[in-house]
Amino acid sequence: MAETLAVINCSQVVTLAGAHRPRAGGDLRQLAILEDGAMLVRGEYIEDVGRRREIESRITPHCEVIDAQRRVLMPGFVDAHTHPVFAGIRANEFEQRASGATYREIAARGGGIRSTVRATRNASLSDLIKAGKRYADWFLRTGTTTIEAKSGYGLTLDDELKILRAIKELNDQTALRYVPTFLGAHDIPSEYQSRRQTYVNLVINEMLPRVAEEKLAEYCDVFCEEDVFTTDESWEILSAARCHGLGLRVHADQLTLSGGAKLAGELNCATADHLEHTDPTGIAALKAASVQPVLLPGSVYALGSKQYPAARQMIDAGLAVVIATDFNPGSSPTPSMTMVLSLACTQMKMTPAEAISASTINAAYSLGRGDELGSLEKGKRADFVIHDVSDYRELPYFFGIEHPWRVYASGKLTFAC
Ligand code: NIG
Ligand code: FE
Repeated sequence: MAETLAVINCSQVVTLAGAHRPRAGGDLRQLAILEDGAMLVRGEYIEDVGRRREIESRITPHCEVIDAQRRVLMPGFVDAHTHPVFAGIRANEFEQRASGATYREIAARGGGIRSTVRATRNASLSDLIKAGKRYADWFLRTGTTTIEAKSGYGLTLDDELKILRAIKELNDQTALRYVPTFLGAHDIPSEYQSRRQTYVNLVINEMLPRVAEEKLAEYCDVFCEEDVFTTDESWEILSAARCHGLGLRVHADQLTLSGGAKLAGELNCATADHLEHTDPTGIAALKAASVQPVLLPGSVYALGSKQYPAARQMIDAGLAVVIATDFNPGSSPTPSMTMVLSLACTQMKMTPAEAISASTINAAYSLGRGDELGSLEKGKRADFVIHDVSDYRELPYFFGIEHPWRVYASGKLTFAC
């Protein structure tokens, strides 16, 4: 018999129970909070969530009881956009940006993504797993239990496979759940500068078939941007990925209005990510094709920009908004969803409730995991966090501090403080 545990004495159980679909409009503010609720877990799954008295009456002698002491119980965060496998760090570029250089200037002189590509190509699989475990620990202790994880710092067949294998190992060896995405089109490697189409062909004819054959990714992503992949090239790569059965995501309109959101609509992508420069036409294209926008305010903040994506217009247009960290060594070196919640509220004028929906249930739907993750409901995975606050609004309000007191993934304790 699977072991049971009960969480009792919560000030709020933020269940996010509701319709089985991504939340849009006013539904983003409906967190379905139980003021005096409790939860019963059996093995890896949630057995029930309900009133404290009702749950307590079902506690048996072998059940482990966790007294939350009037703290908040919530689902683990689902971080739907990360680049968590890389070698080296880029604190030097951070310093250069602090002295006035821009992200694009640094990239144009061979830094940026290409500098991480050089380091990652020189790293072994075990080097990458070792570095990745450190970051997995950061995600878990900040209350994130699932991440989408992109490759993209290899840009050769072998190095992209190495990164995706590291992601698989990290999924197996840590308590964090990884949803893998192939991002071989993250940049044109320097050796292909004068032969762009040859690199696009390599991605389509050699990388994608191997990635699909070895089942190393569920999604394919492309960095569609001026100076990186054009909309035509992105279309070619994403269409090929679809033929291999992969879901589609796209880095769209991050640094310029490059047509990425429109493309995401045309291709019915699962998500269009970044969208700092997306205009009303792009927003309409996302709406028409039910594409979920994944907004990444951490990268805007860390690049020292003021151009946050138009979250309010997107919510008003009826989009099922997601927020995520974009954890990576360049534009967004943070694993903290709490930081992202704070930025979403202060810089993008989302309400705390909207930000919570966008970082849990909506993020889960954007990864095709809406039936399994993202809310505290009977039958879902027991991925949950007890935060050391008494009201969920304190999560973005008290910023610069992490709040988890206990973090559980699939019913197992993975962090305690
Ligand atoms: O999402 N925009 C492209 N990729 C990452 C940055 C990667 C890097 O700077 O290493 C992003 O911001
Ligand atoms: Fe990214």
